Amino acid sequence: MQAKSPSASRTVMSDLVLPGDTNMLNNLFGGELLARMDRAASIAAGRHSSSITVTASVNHVAFTQAVPLGSVVTVEAAVSRAFTTSMEVFIDVWIESRFSGERTKANEAIYTFVALDEMGKPTKVPPLKPVSDLEKERFAAALRRKQLSLVLAGKLEPREATELRALFMGE
Ligand SMILES: CC(C)(COP(=O)(O)OP(=O)(O)OC[C@H]1O[C@@H](n2cnc3c(N)ncnc32)[C@H](O)[C@@H]1OP(=O)(O)O)[C@@H](O)C(=O)NCCC(=O)NCCS
Repeated sequence: MQAKSPSASRTVMSDLVLPGDTNMLNNLFGGELLARMDRAASIAAGRHSSSITVTASVNHVAFTQAVPLGSVVTVEAAVSRAFTTSMEVFIDVWIESRFSGERTKANEAIYTFVALDEMGKPTKVPPLKPVSDLEKERFAAALRRKQLSLVLAGKLEPREATELRALFMGE
């Protein structure tokens, strides 16, 4: 399978924050943002793998900044590393000023998707070739995030998580 770059899967979705999307402080409800990120990430994973994909795990979410009612929110997702049948998708969330058009980074998240064949079984995905420095940085750190996610899910023994061990123990 031919390698693809992150830009081949880049997915950008902009939408408003309307009253039905907010919490009691009139900021975007966390679950609504998770759903928007999941949709964009699902499209990105589908673009990379040309397959049906499912969300396998949410590895990281940082709700760093509240997103007020009326904001224009842009969710940008791209595959940051492809493994055998799974893909890590990195999601950046931006708020755009109505008046200056200036964009501020509000949140980010990392999801894992798995590509499935017509029988619903995990199927191989093309490799990912990072191009920019940021893409290379995200690619390099993705293996330890995968190992952490698998350890937390009880699917990998901590002693087998070589990248994580190297990070914590300097091995
Ligand atoms: C995701 C799913 C296909 C994985 O099935 P599985 O039997 O664990 O399959 P495998 O063990 O072959 O794992 C498939 C890949 O997923 C990865 N994976 C599984 N669980 C993971 C987790 N918690 N974190 C990171 N990666 C995970 C495996 O490492 C493997 O990756 P690789 O082939 O690239 O090395 C299956 O659990 C599923 O269908 N879940 C429901 C998905 C869904 O409906 N999501 C919508 C939200 S409700």
